[in-house]
Amino acid sequence: MPATILIGAQWGDEGKGRVADWLAADSDVVARYAGGDNAGHTVAVGDKVYKLHLIPSGILHSRVTCVLGNGMVVNPIHLMREICDLQAQGVPVTPQNLQISSRAHLITPGHIALDAASEAKRGAGKIGTTLRGIGPAYMDKTGRSGIRAGQMVDPEEFAEALQAHLEATNDKLHRDGFAPIVLEAAIAESVEAAAFLRPFIRDTSLTINEWLHTGARVLCEGAQGTFLDVDHGDYPFVTSSSPTAGGALTGLGMGPLSVDRVVGVAKAYSTRVGSGPMPTELDGELADRLRGTGKNFWDEFGTTTRRPRRCGWLDLVTLRYAAMVNGFTELVVTKLDILSGFETLQIATAYHIRGEVVETVPATATALESAKPIYEALPGWSEDLSRIRRWDDLPGAVRGYIDRVSALVGVPIRTISVGPEREQLVHRP
Ligand code: IMP
Repeated sequence: MPATILIGAQWGDEGKGRVADWLAADSDVVARYAGGDNAGHTVAVGDKVYKLHLIPSGILHSRVTCVLGNGMVVNPIHLMREICDLQAQGVPVTPQNLQISSRAHLITPGHIALDAASEAKRGAGKIGTTLRGIGPAYMDKTGRSGIRAGQMVDPEEFAEALQAHLEATNDKLHRDGFAPIVLEAAIAESVEAAAFLRPFIRDTSLTINEWLHTGARVLCEGAQGTFLDVDHGDYPFVTSSSPTAGGALTGLGMGPLSVDRVVGVAKAYSTRVGSGPMPTELDGELADRLRGTGKNFWDEFGTTTRRPRRCGWLDLVTLRYAAMVNGFTELVVTKLDILSGFETLQIATAYHIRGEVVETVPATATALESAKPIYEALPGWSEDLSRIRRWDDLPGAVRGYIDRVSALVGVPIRTISVGPEREQLVHRP
C-alpha cells in the first residue's frame, strides 16, 4: 500500500496535528521525517488536550506504530519527558508502538546553548528560532560531526562522544563570550535519557520498507511548513531541515514510488512566528481578530514558544508555489470558523514587486519583503460554522471561498476544519 505525505503549505502551524490525527485513523504507521521539538502539535480528544513536540499524534490511535525518522533531530532529554508525560496521561508508549531511527541525529544541551548564542549575535537580524538547538544540530549533521541516536545503544561510546562534543561546544561559547555548559550535569541527564530510549532505537528504514512491502498504510507526517524549508522557504528565515515532500523520502529512507498521496494543509488565513517576510501580514484590529486572545489553545500563539503569531490574509501566491514544489494531490483548509464575522475577505493573488506584477514567489527574502499583495475581495459570512458537519450545510460564501482558493491553487479541496475538536472536520461528499 503506498504512503501518504502530509505537509504544511505555509509557515508552519497550519493545523497539521489535527489532520494527521484524522489520517492516522486509516494508517498503520505514522512517521515523522524532519525537524525536532521545534514543532508543536495540539490535538483535542474529548476533554483531553495533548501537546506533542516530537512524537507523531498517531500515538493517540491504539493500532498505530509511530516512527521518528532519520531526517529528524531528536533531543533525548525532551523525548524522554514527552514519553513520560503521555504515559502519565494514560497513553501507552512502548517500543512496540514507537521506534526511533538509529540514524536520527541528537540535539544536545550544547546545541541549545549555541542556538541562543547565534541568535544573540545576530541581534536585530535574528531568525527568531524556537531556541531548541535545531540549526546547530543540523549544522553538526551536515558538518559530519554530529551524534546519531544509534550511538546511544553503547553507553560508553555515547558518553565519550557527548563529552568531546560538549568540550568543543564550550570552546566555541568561550570564544564568543557566552557562559559554558556544566559538563557533568549535562552528561548525566543525557546518559539517563539514552538508557531510557535505548529499547526504542531501530533501523527504521528497514522497518518502514518492510511495512510498505506487506501492505501497511504509512503516513509521513511533516512538521513546520513549506516556507520554512531550507531550500524552498524564505532563506535565511527558515528552519534547517526539509519539511517538503522530498524531505519525506530522504528523511525516512524510502523511494518515490512508495508515495501516491500528498496532502497539503493550509490555514484559511496566514500566520507566521519568528522573523522573515510575510506579504499579507496585517496589524491592528484585523490581526487581533484573527489571533484571538490567547485564552484558548487554538488561538494564534505558538505551541512551543507561546509567542504571538503574526497574522494576515490568505496568500495564494505562496500556496500555489507550495502546491508546485510538493506536488499536492489535495489541500485541506483549516480554521474556516475563525473567519466568521468578516464582511469581506481578501486573498492575495499576485504581488507588486519593484513596479512589476509578479505571480510567483521570489527567491530572495529581500524581494519578498518588498512585495505588495494584489488582493481579490470575496464575500465573508457571519454564521458560526463550528457545529456544521455536512458540506451542503456550509453557507454559500464559505463554499465560494473554498472553491475560489481551490481554483487558484489548482488543487482539489475536499476537507475543511471548523474547530479544534476531532469531529470538527467537514468532508465534501
Ligand atoms: P528553528 O527551527 O527553531 O531553527 O526556527 C527557525 C524558524 O522556523 C523560526 O522562524 C521559527 O519560528 C520557525 N519554526 C520552527 N518550527 C516551527 C513550527 O513548528 N511552527 C511554526 N514555526 C516554526
